[in-house]
Amino acid sequence: MTRYALRTSAEEATVAAGRALAPLLQSGDVILLSGDLGAGKTCLARGIAEGLGVGHPVTSPTFNILLVHPGRVFMNHFDLYRLDSPLQLEDIDYWGTLEAGGVSVVEWGDRFAESIPEDRLIVAMTITGDEERLFDLDACGGRSERLASAWIEACSSIAGATLEGGGQP
Ligand SMILES: Nc1ncnc2c1ncn2[C@@H]1O[C@H](COP(=O)(O)OP(=O)(O)OP(=O)(O)O)[C@@H](O)[C@H]1O
Ligand SMILES: [Mg+2]
Repeated sequence: MTRYALRTSAEEATVAAGRALAPLLQSGDVILLSGDLGAGKTCLARGIAEGLGVGHPVTSPTFNILLVHPGRVFMNHFDLYRLDSPLQLEDIDYWGTLEAGGVSVVEWGDRFAESIPEDRLIVAMTITGDEERLFDLDACGGRSERLASAWIEACSSIAGATLEGGGQP
């Protein structure tokens, strides 16, 4: 397991962090986003979508649960907030969709133990100020650990994004 922490000082820095993650992503990757309402999950997803070449601004899929956006690789944008039970993951074909390819970005992705893949990158977002957010990256598994490490490196040149501490094995 590898952990990193990244702090952003403005919405634009969070979007830029998402944009920096996009070129590193490949079909089959799953990014789980967690954190309170307004933590910045959709902002990060918007940046990922921009970086994947999605040609329109991505909005919250809260009421749709899943929105699929075409890009260099298509992006499955889930929001599990409105699900009450892990049994509903089957109703929405959660695992089938993740496994069918594309890049999957899941808001409230740690809502159920059953929604967390074995090889997973969880970005836990905390509101630390009006304009400041702290992202704790929890990467487990070979693919996710490599992805987290490359992403953190790519964020080092983003204005308003600060890496906190080093990766901890
Ligand atoms: N550093 C920051 N990063 C991201 N968003 C920020 C930041 N500072 C302020 N904000 C504001 O916080 C809000 C984040 O909204 P966003 O919709 O991304 O949250 P969310 O985590 O997706 O919430 P929800 O759980 O309701 O889907 C926006 O209004 C944005 O302008
Ligand atoms: Mg959201």
